[in-house]
Amino acid sequence: MANVVLRNVRKTYPGGFEAIKGVDFEVGDGQFCVLVGPSGCGKSTLLRMVAGLETITSGEIDIGGRVVNDVEPADRDIAMVFQNYALYPHMSVYNNMAYGLRNRGMAKPEIEARVQEAARILEIGAMLDRKPRQLSGGQRQRVAMGRAIVRQPKVFLFDEPLSNLDAKLRVAMRVEIRKLQRRLSTTAIYVTHDQLEAMTLADILVVMNAGQVEQIGSPLDVYAKPATTFVASFIGAPPMNLIPLDAEGVRARFGGAVTEAGVLGVRPEDLAISSEPPAPGGLTLDLAVEAIERVGPETFVYGTRSPGGDLAAISSKPGELPPDEIIIRIPGQEAPAIGERISVVALRHNLHLFSADGRRRIAV
Ligand SMILES: Nc1ncnc2c1ncn2[C@@H]1O[C@H](COP(=O)(O)OP(=O)(O)OP(=O)(O)O)[C@@H](O)[C@H]1O
Ligand SMILES: [Mg+2]
Repeated sequence: MANVVLRNVRKTYPGGFEAIKGVDFEVGDGQFCVLVGPSGCGKSTLLRMVAGLETITSGEIDIGGRVVNDVEPADRDIAMVFQNYALYPHMSVYNNMAYGLRNRGMAKPEIEARVQEAARILEIGAMLDRKPRQLSGGQRQRVAMGRAIVRQPKVFLFDEPLSNLDAKLRVAMRVEIRKLQRRLSTTAIYVTHDQLEAMTLADILVVMNAGQVEQIGSPLDVYAKPATTFVASFIGAPPMNLIPLDAEGVRARFGGAVTEAGVLGVRPEDLAISSEPPAPGGLTLDLAVEAIERVGPETFVYGTRSPGGDLAAISSKPGELPPDEIIIRIPGQEAPAIGERISVVALRHNLHLFSADGRRRIAV
């Protein structure tokens, strides 16, 4: 077991593209770290650098107290699970798991014991003689996991291992991966662009954007206090509503302490339909309902913000605010009619404020 530390890690690809622009974070021994961010933000690049499959342009990667910049992948004591599993098609499940151990010259009884133990944990013991093509997608994914488990590495690295699976299997495997990692308590770094996967799996969440870290924290802290508007709209679905305010608008809403323009944020689940005025300091928005999505236990209401409500009133140029789309998320299936005008309210402590460029969270 080991911790993993990245110190000012950078990657410039041949040709000059800077894919990783100075990343620092630490994954504690036994922690499950999830790297999440949009396509192209550098997640796989970073993971492959930890694995040693990609060189590091500058900075340091440290695994278990040893700088591994110049250590070969095979000597880093890591095991990686990829999105496309990459099983050997002509080998049985057993041999797929045993292959790497044999290559390392491990004794046969030890290989047998490790493969059987992994098969038991993953519940694929009855399939050891089958070829990958005789397995379902979920079963193949388990074999890929098994291949990593038998190595008994210090660190597991996962690159979107569930993205080839259908939605239901994804959820089932997600829960299994978490249980497995708790049980083995092996340090893990897991890459995904799925924010729900990130929220549910992570002990420590690293939100990346364009080669940089936007925020690091526990999933619920990141959800409760996003550091930037990027994080605010990336974590949580539907995303946080973001409404630009001029300096006057910010002052009118949040008092004299803040004197700059900003972006007001409020999550869809923190808005409720109500004709009553909110508690002091709360927010009211007047919306024209444009679309309804009923997903079963809850309903998403899409509306356009109309002049009126207390935001227009605090704008320095009432009526000139663009008609913004607002999403609200309400429990149950009852919803207003399309075209109806409604008022929605949020409590003061559920309001977020960011700098006008979205790069900074402002305490209010
Ligand atoms: N070998 C390479 N040469 C040049 N640029 C590369 C190379 N590999 C990746 N890139 C670029 O580096 C950036 C980061 O790529 P990376 O694969 O790390 O993204 P990612 O976050 O894993 O995305 P995805 O979610 O789509 O897998 C992208 O803009 C990509 O085009
Ligand atoms: Mg990737």
